[in-house]
Amino acid sequence: MKILFVTPEVEPFVKVGGLADMTGALPKDLVRQGHDVRVVCPAYGSVRRVGDWQARPEPLGVDVGGASQWARVWETVLPGSRVPAYFLENHDHFARPEVYTGPWGAHADNDLRFAFFCRGALALCQQLDWVPDVIHCHDWTTGLLPLMLNTTLRDTPLARTATVFTIHNLEHQGWSPARVVDFARLPWGEFHRDGLVSNGMVNLMKVGLLHATKITTVSPTYAGEIRTPDGGFGLDGVLNFRAADLLGILNGIDDESWDPARDRSLPAHYSAADLAGKAVCKARLQQQLGLDVKPGVPLFGVVSRLAAQKGLDLLAEALPRILDRMDVQFVLLGNGEAKLENDFRWAADAYRGRFGAHLGFDGGLARLIQAGSDFFVMPSRSEPCGLTQMYAMRYGTPPVVRATGGLVDTVQNFVEGQPVGTGFVFGDATVAALTDTIGWACATYYDRPAELAALRLRGMAQDFSWRSSAKHYVDLYRWAVAARVGG
Ligand code: ADP
Ligand code: GLC
Repeated sequence: MKILFVTPEVEPFVKVGGLADMTGALPKDLVRQGHDVRVVCPAYGSVRRVGDWQARPEPLGVDVGGASQWARVWETVLPGSRVPAYFLENHDHFARPEVYTGPWGAHADNDLRFAFFCRGALALCQQLDWVPDVIHCHDWTTGLLPLMLNTTLRDTPLARTATVFTIHNLEHQGWSPARVVDFARLPWGEFHRDGLVSNGMVNLMKVGLLHATKITTVSPTYAGEIRTPDGGFGLDGVLNFRAADLLGILNGIDDESWDPARDRSLPAHYSAADLAGKAVCKARLQQQLGLDVKPGVPLFGVVSRLAAQKGLDLLAEALPRILDRMDVQFVLLGNGEAKLENDFRWAADAYRGRFGAHLGFDGGLARLIQAGSDFFVMPSRSEPCGLTQMYAMRYGTPPVVRATGGLVDTVQNFVEGQPVGTGFVFGDATVAALTDTIGWACATYYDRPAELAALRLRGMAQDFSWRSSAKHYVDLYRWAVAARVGG
């Protein structure tokens, strides 16, 4: 099959969160299975030009209203693979460094930027004279693409291309004023409440959900949650309407890149057979983040966007209780909401030597934290899939998680005295539940070291690789193609 990934992020070129991990990994697995897969992404000012980049000789005409009608196309491959990756460069839309959000909040022209991107991705297929069987769209930035295919491209060869729309996070839907209809050259006949519009605005996510051939989300549990009023963020009605075409497929991880036996960011390597290197990583991590270098104190790690979704306000509030009462250490890597950054800056100051924070984005440090910590903390209020808990288990670092979304599907709760569990799970999104569960993990560290060691090994033995999930995507693509032809 010919499959085009249209995505706003792709690892290792540009990454805000796990969406980039997914679009940087799944295509490689699909190519290994013999499919012709390509990826297209905007060339933001901050995009890392990893590997060999060539500009395609001819400019790409993009059929939108307004002034920026051309893109320059850069071509490279996903590192370590033969997957072609195309980056669309356009000064007005993508020269600035940030993907979605500038220093003063979300870019006010995100609707136009990503409408341009969707039209550009389709124009690229036409320029390459390459008609994909499936276009795989990712989150709200690509929401207009299925509608473009179904309307203005109806009389072109692309009309038979099926679309799969993956929801990575339903909280971010992409809202636009009506101007996007003319800019994206969409039919005004779609501008009504059962079409493009929610609450008087164009809702880009909703457009994708209504017009894609098939819809997926990134874990089975989240697929159920988003069909309820609590988890639907206003779109549960639309998702129930499309329930027959909606599937939850658990994300995999790139287990070649995320492998403690080979990871080049680590000062020492290790595996389930010999964990000695993990202690070296712990010492380096303690040193690097200014903690007391003590091998025998449990170290809890966090790597996260600092957003309400991640429940880290609970951790900020719980910290004094935890650090005043338990002999533990914490490291945190994250950036995002100013209030949370300030809370953690304060904690680093108040608990010097025991709480270390790095408020920024640092891929190498993320890996050192996964390796050097004894536990990985993820108190998410909602978590469509979550990749970091899977990285943690692979790195021998049992996660402490709240039971929501993909965390339910990937972490099994510890049962004391039994060979059961890969982590520590709690139910309520409260400071008390988080504090208790961190206390439980801490007590297990001190009082039940043999059971903790066995739990760690059970986590390391899990297979979270893309191999099985990629097969589900192939089945889904076939289903989408059949539906498109049939429909
Ligand atoms: P989400 O996509 O909601 O942020 P995931 O767990 O799916 O959550 O993926 C997060 C990805 O982003 C992981 O690869 C994680 O290591 C990475 N990450 C998050 N915050 C940072 C940071 N501050 N520095 C480096 N990597 C980060
Ligand atoms: C989103 C979700 C996260 C998921 C990731 C990749 O950012 O918040 O849970 O793992 O997408 O699908």
